[in-house]
Amino acid sequence: MPDNRLVLDCNNMFAGRTAGRGIEPARLSALAERFRAVHADVQQRRHPGPLGFYQLPFEEQVVREIRTFADAAAPNYDNVLVLGIGGSALGTLALRQALRPPFWNELDDEQRDYFPRLHVLDNVDPATIAPLLDRLDMRRTFCNVISKSGATAETMAQFMIVRERLLAVLDPDELPAHLIFTTDPAKGVLRQLAAAEGIATLPVPPNVGGRFSVLSAVGLLPAAFMGIDIERLLAGAAAMIRRCDTEELAQNPAGLFAALQYLAHHERGAGIHVMMPYSDRLYGFADWFRQLWAESLGKRYGTAGGEVFTGPTPVKALGATDQHSQVQLYIEGPFDKTVTFLAGAHDHDLTVPPAYPDSPELGYLGGRTLGELLDAERHATAAALAASGRMNMSINLERIDAHAIGELVMLLQIATVYAGGLYGVDPLDQPGVELGKRLTYGLMGRAGFEPPVLTTGEARWISR
Ligand code: PA5
Repeated sequence: MPDNRLVLDCNNMFAGRTAGRGIEPARLSALAERFRAVHADVQQRRHPGPLGFYQLPFEEQVVREIRTFADAAAPNYDNVLVLGIGGSALGTLALRQALRPPFWNELDDEQRDYFPRLHVLDNVDPATIAPLLDRLDMRRTFCNVISKSGATAETMAQFMIVRERLLAVLDPDELPAHLIFTTDPAKGVLRQLAAAEGIATLPVPPNVGGRFSVLSAVGLLPAAFMGIDIERLLAGAAAMIRRCDTEELAQNPAGLFAALQYLAHHERGAGIHVMMPYSDRLYGFADWFRQLWAESLGKRYGTAGGEVFTGPTPVKALGATDQHSQVQLYIEGPFDKTVTFLAGAHDHDLTVPPAYPDSPELGYLGGRTLGELLDAERHATAAALAASGRMNMSINLERIDAHAIGELVMLLQIATVYAGGLYGVDPLDQPGVELGKRLTYGLMGRAGFEPPVLTTGEARWISR
């Protein structure tokens, strides 16, 4: 199968297409020199530096291990349960939605080609978890615990509950066969438990952060369990790395994406970034991207008194659904947003029957497909936004397959680290998330952690 190539169409970001409201091409040219420096810095920090995600498409040995493990284990189980949150869950959810048939977990064995169902617990809402666990036959359930730190309260709580459910139906010596931990190769409590209890492990490389980890064992093992072609996924990612190897801003798709979003924010006041797939299959990537963009770029820097608080706000929307919910705001509300459309060819389509050929209201739909309607709505929304002076861009995938998704993931990851350079922030840390984790530990009584002060005595401002 020939490789496809993701297309990034940025025309509607420019002033000439947006009634003068967008970016002047000269402003992009003026950023080209600075981009060269950002690109050089990123190149220099690639593996074995802190940008370890660049190396993931080339870890052949790890990929072989994952493939071998999944191929051997998958036939023994009906269900794979992924326990993880944030960067340890969102990529897997997006991959399942994009690369497996819809309603995967509702299909029967034959429809799933005998690959297991895959559930991602993600949140810790007992209203979801309790009924799911009650439904699963734990003898036929395999559990992948994913936590880079091995300490996140949500994932550890899930693990202890699931372990108890497994032990309720298994002999203790059967337990290790039902578990694998994906975690730091050396540190953390999961690593210690694995050694003590004989549980298999896969590594999250120390230089790969949670939200950049979907192409590591974090996303690859669950993907392999579902029969996703992980080798093609990585080939797509590698192809995108090659495309982004140039320091020429105009030739570098991730550079263009980052630079135009940065200019839209800093020079045009558009700090809200809407990611709007016109495809149910790609909607999970709007969620995944929301974490990537928000946690990487929402930062405070500078010294006390002279601090700068910065970062774009990612928002997710779905076409055509949100045309009937959000698009009025995007077209006529404040000039504070950009919209990025995500689209891919429709490999299933439905033709509307010509039921009412004489009706002016309905006749035009007869013989057209739902895919055509969805595409028309996307083009119409992009044109309406541009005509109203609203900047927008489009990422088009020729096909929604593993290669294209690999390209998309890598495009957005590289764009995020470029954007970090342009914003002048470290895109790899997340001190705000860590603060929330520490305060949760305190509230839950973990030794060595202080709880936050929850009430200030201003009871008159609490309405009951
Ligand atoms: O991107 C990140 O670093 C975070 O969102 C983490 O993925 C999330 O907090 C879960 O952390 P861990 O994998 O350590 O359990």
